[in-house]
Amino acid sequence: MSKYSEKIVVVGSINCDITTYMSKFPKPHETIIADHTAVSVGGKGLNQAVAAARVGADVAMVACIGDDQFGVQAIKYLSENDVSVEYITCSDDVVTGTAAIFVTSTGENMIAVSPGANAELSPRLVEDAHDLISSADVLIVQLEIPLDSIEAALKIAKKAGVKTILNPAPANPDAINLLPLADIVTPNETETELLAGIYPDSAEATDKALKVFHDLGTDGVIITKGEDGCAISIGGHRVNLGTFKINMVDSTGAGDVFNGVFAVGLARKYCHEEAARQASAAAAISVTRPMAEGAAPFAAEIEEFLTKYSLDN
Ligand SMILES: Nc1ncnc2c1ncn2[C@@H]1O[C@H](COP(=O)(O)OP(=O)(O)O)[C@@H](O)[C@H]1O
Ligand SMILES: [Mg+2]
Repeated sequence: MSKYSEKIVVVGSINCDITTYMSKFPKPHETIIADHTAVSVGGKGLNQAVAAARVGADVAMVACIGDDQFGVQAIKYLSENDVSVEYITCSDDVVTGTAAIFVTSTGENMIAVSPGANAELSPRLVEDAHDLISSADVLIVQLEIPLDSIEAALKIAKKAGVKTILNPAPANPDAINLLPLADIVTPNETETELLAGIYPDSAEATDKALKVFHDLGTDGVIITKGEDGCAISIGGHRVNLGTFKINMVDSTGAGDVFNGVFAVGLARKYCHEEAARQASAAAAISVTRPMAEGAAPFAAEIEEFLTKYSLDN
């Protein structure tokens, strides 16, 4: 491993995921007794920060939590994973963001995300982290915080020559104006459909969608397509990557692991294809494990995985 540690800054969300498992969903006005509930820290920002830290980068998060137990747990979890929490603001008047998730025994889910403190991550707080962002190798942002704050972060990074990744998730049509501000955007299939108007379910549709993204002003695009791999088009260079064939257990958060690990590859100046190969391996490992937050692999696990598995193109 190199002595120099890549600096990744994530400006993004922290949530508490409260997942309740039940045989079937309650009807309106009905109360049911569920099987059990799991409480874990999550949020796309936190998940991507942890994924980047686990492969050895020096990671800091700019985020907001509430003055509650969920916030305390998130800080503990980030600290245990060596993510710097110095720029995480604790707000007294709101609760930490939550995702209330219902899962039935047949695997169906219903999710209600309440932004809570994530909505308090204002452009001013992003501006307070100006020096941190400007000194990064790579900035990663997603769409679980206010759009004007994402814009502020991308502009600070651009001015300082910091590479930027915009993961336009969860899908939000208003993010279209942010696309030209990022070096690389990483939509999944549904986000591609929403932003580019084309569902990338064939080679032809994928090429069309990539072209729409370029026409919208993005130079770099990686469309991730779950078990169908990803399509890369950056700086005029076009490559498709397949996936590593594994036994899927829980695909939640695959995109988060992909983005976190890809950012580190970018900071290490790997070519985009190699950075995406490592990110795909990390994401593949993560889907073999339950629970998004605990699923991101460490560098040594990815290295070992890559000696055993190859990409299926
Ligand atoms: N079932 C799977 N098997 C192998 N790799 C997977 C699987 N699901 C996801 N991946 C990897 O993770 C990447 C991101 O997954 P994707 O589902 O596109 O993101 P998101 O979680 O944002 O929907 C994919 O491009 C692929 O490399
Ligand atoms: Mg997916």
